[in-house]
Amino acid sequence: MLGALEVAAVSGTQAQHAQSFRRIKLKIGIVIFSRTGHTLSVVTKLVENLAAVGHTATLEQLKPVGRFAPGMREVPLEAPPDPAPYDALVFGAAVEGGMLSGAMTSYLKQVPSLQGKRVACLVAQGFPFSSWGGVQSVAQMKALVEAKGGRVVGSSIVHRMSLRRAREVAEAAEHLAALLEVGQGAG
Ligand SMILES: Cc1cc2nc3c(=O)[nH]c(=O)nc-3n(C[C@H](O)[C@H](O)[C@H](O)COP(=O)(O)O)c2cc1C
Repeated sequence: MLGALEVAAVSGTQAQHAQSFRRIKLKIGIVIFSRTGHTLSVVTKLVENLAAVGHTATLEQLKPVGRFAPGMREVPLEAPPDPAPYDALVFGAAVEGGMLSGAMTSYLKQVPSLQGKRVACLVAQGFPFSSWGGVQSVAQMKALVEAKGGRVVGSSIVHRMSLRRAREVAEAAEHLAALLEVGQGAG
């Protein structure tokens, strides 16, 4: 049986491991499309959370080219962000008509490769129930990411009409940061 000092020593070693694990700095790319700022509100907090533990997070927003209307399925994009420089990625966008936004769908279809990248997904929706488009949009995003060789490590859904909207935004930012922390280096 371990004495009190030995237990303290073991705990100390675990704490050192945890600290050195945290010292692995990731370059994280956050690619979003946010028409009214809901998705953006989550990733703004996420950038702060990631910076607080020493990661470099870069926010890149998709910009449609030419005529754009909400609900468009094929959306030509200006200078689509290159995922290559990042260790891990977050993709975020809204539900539109029960599906993942056309801008994000168009981006993920044209992105050259996500091979070996860990990806966390964020979906924003109006209705307060994830089954009204949120779950379907996450599944779509996951399939598009996997088709390009990426590995989805988890997701968050936020709801504009939720009574806990502000709390949800904060929780999603914490959850996404934790997803990127877990299993670092695991491919
Ligand atoms: C054309 C269109 C279709 C939408 N369809 C849905 C839907 O099917 N389900 C839902 O919950 N919200 C739907 N919404 C609401 C958006 O998902 C919601 O407002 C979201 O918070 C927007 O996020 P953003 O500001 O980051 O773009 C729709 C919005 C638009 C403009």
